[in-house]
Amino acid sequence: MSRRRLLTGGSAAGLGVAAGAGLVAMNDGPAPVAVTVADTPQIGTATVAFHGPRQAGIAEDPPAHASFTAFTLHRGTDRAALGRMMRLLSDDAARLTQGTPALGDTDATLAVLPARLTVTFGFGPGLYRAAGLPSPVADLPRFTIDRLQDRWSGGDLLLQICADDPLTVAHTQRMLIKDARPFAAVRWVQQGFRRSPGVQAAEHTQRNVMGQLDGTANPRGTEIDPAVWNPDGSTTLVVRRVRAEMETWDKLSVTDKENAVGRRMDSGAPLSGTREHDKPDFTALDEFGLPKMPDFSHVTRARVEDPRLKILRRPYNYDGVPDANGVPDSGLIFAAYQRDIAEQFVPIQRRLAEKDLLNEWITPIGSAVFAIPPGCAEDGWIGKPVLT
Ligand code: HEM
Repeated sequence: MSRRRLLTGGSAAGLGVAAGAGLVAMNDGPAPVAVTVADTPQIGTATVAFHGPRQAGIAEDPPAHASFTAFTLHRGTDRAALGRMMRLLSDDAARLTQGTPALGDTDATLAVLPARLTVTFGFGPGLYRAAGLPSPVADLPRFTIDRLQDRWSGGDLLLQICADDPLTVAHTQRMLIKDARPFAAVRWVQQGFRRSPGVQAAEHTQRNVMGQLDGTANPRGTEIDPAVWNPDGSTTLVVRRVRAEMETWDKLSVTDKENAVGRRMDSGAPLSGTREHDKPDFTALDEFGLPKMPDFSHVTRARVEDPRLKILRRPYNYDGVPDANGVPDSGLIFAAYQRDIAEQFVPIQRRLAEKDLLNEWITPIGSAVFAIPPGCAEDGWIGKPVLT
């Protein structure tokens, strides 16, 4: 369906028919992309359990909105103070995630629609230093591709707040920052989004702001356990803010975009296959005898086969205010969970930094690492085993 036809009155009904049939015209270029439209469940009242051996907000499908808030501890916030802070913040999170106002909530009416709210706590190396404890995570080595800015990097404490509704995220962020204020200052906040619930069926891999299907090869279901969780229920998180160079990316042909990633833009299929979930074949050659999966494509370089060495990517898009010339401020808040950063994340990032065609169009501008302590029982709080 052409854009012109979409804009003329008569075709509006036609679009309705197409959408109902599960076909949505994307533009007047290549063939329309098939999208299954989802049934809409009770999005506003849905909850995710806060208590349990592992923290929530990691293995579940990512909700549509996220805020990552990193703090710098005030001087003098020692182990005892950290315990008081985490007892308070855990209590807030336990209530808010279940649709109950926090103690001292400044607006209880904003707490009643949790929309799958999760609050995930991360401890940076500086928190362990303040507590006089050895840190299970260390800052990443420097990579040649990095153009890191302090305003998006580091942090002693992280709150990853996710929900299917941005007002819920905003209220939760405000309540938790208010209660953290005696102990820590806000260092940076990064807000991101994915597709809204109900827009497409949950089984679809989502597109990112660059238009790529992003998440195809992610561990799913039982594959998540060996990659992500330590026996005690802990894990680690790397947050990288990666700017997308949209101005130059937009100028590429579809073929060039596909070679940079190693997958088709429309279907997400590897260039050696035909369907999204076909296993990439790095030995397949084209009619010129060249590898169908380019040696330096993002997928070729990032590929990990060992289930214990994979990472769980949980990225959110960001799209800030364009500059005066209309140049977008877009990219990914690239969040990755893994048992061990040095063993799993660093080798992948190192290979990508050395050679990845996609590097031409993506630039890391922020970086932070956090240990994710185990979850807690109803009578406990996050971090209790290490901080007491
Ligand atoms: C703006 C930044 C990035 C973009 C746009 C991007 C995009 C993509 C796309 C489109 C795929 C193919 C589909 C899929 O399996 O999800 C992919 C795969 C992957 N990416 Fe990225 N990526 C980015 C950054 C990173 C970073 C920083 C890392 C890790 C250091 C990474 C690790 C991976 C891994 C492990 C895979 C799966 C490879 C496989 O086994 O097939 N990506 N990425």
